[in-house]
Amino acid sequence: MNFYTRKWVKPEDLNAHGTLFGGRLLAWIDEEAAIYAIIQLGTLSCVTKYMSEINFVSSARQGDIIELGIKAVVFGHTSLTLTCEVRNKITQKTILTIDKIVFVSVDDSGKPVKHGRTEITYTDEWLRE
Ligand SMILES: CC(C)(COP(=O)(O)OP(=O)(O)OC[C@H]1O[C@@H](n2cnc3c(N)ncnc32)[C@H](O)[C@@H]1OP(=O)(O)O)[C@@H](O)C(=O)NCCC(=O)NCCS
Repeated sequence: MNFYTRKWVKPEDLNAHGTLFGGRLLAWIDEEAAIYAIIQLGTLSCVTKYMSEINFVSSARQGDIIELGIKAVVFGHTSLTLTCEVRNKITQKTILTIDKIVFVSVDDSGKPVKHGRTEITYTDEWLRE
């Protein structure tokens, strides 16, 4: 799993209990997963289809640095299934896990379209072509 993105928990990211707001973390994850899916599928046209159970294991506090990890686990015909883990960079404790996040490659009218990808890529050169 690659932990590419780090976030510094700031006052605007907190809930009423003074810990990291779950909704904020899910927004960060959805964006991170979307960028990962775009690179893997080779298209900017992909949408979030499904997220499995989210297991909040521990929290984070203001000033903590967290890191978001994403990995492709299944390349379907039009879909890509990812798995996710978020952990505290300082304590290395897991904050949450999501078993499955599914993205679907879509055409101009929003219908699923085959992406033709079968394995993880480590290059995003096509973005600049
Ligand atoms: C994504 C969307 C185009 C898919 O349309 P659909 O009619 O459900 O498509 P299909 O049934 O043909 O499924 C497409 C792929 O998704 C997979 N899929 C569909 N529902 C799934 C689910 N609940 N869980 C896991 N995978 C699922 C299918 O297995 C298929 O994968 P494959 O082609 O790799 O085998 C449509 O549901 C949609 O537009 N949803 C809204 C997306 C969106 O706006 N997301 C942003 C959130 S606000």
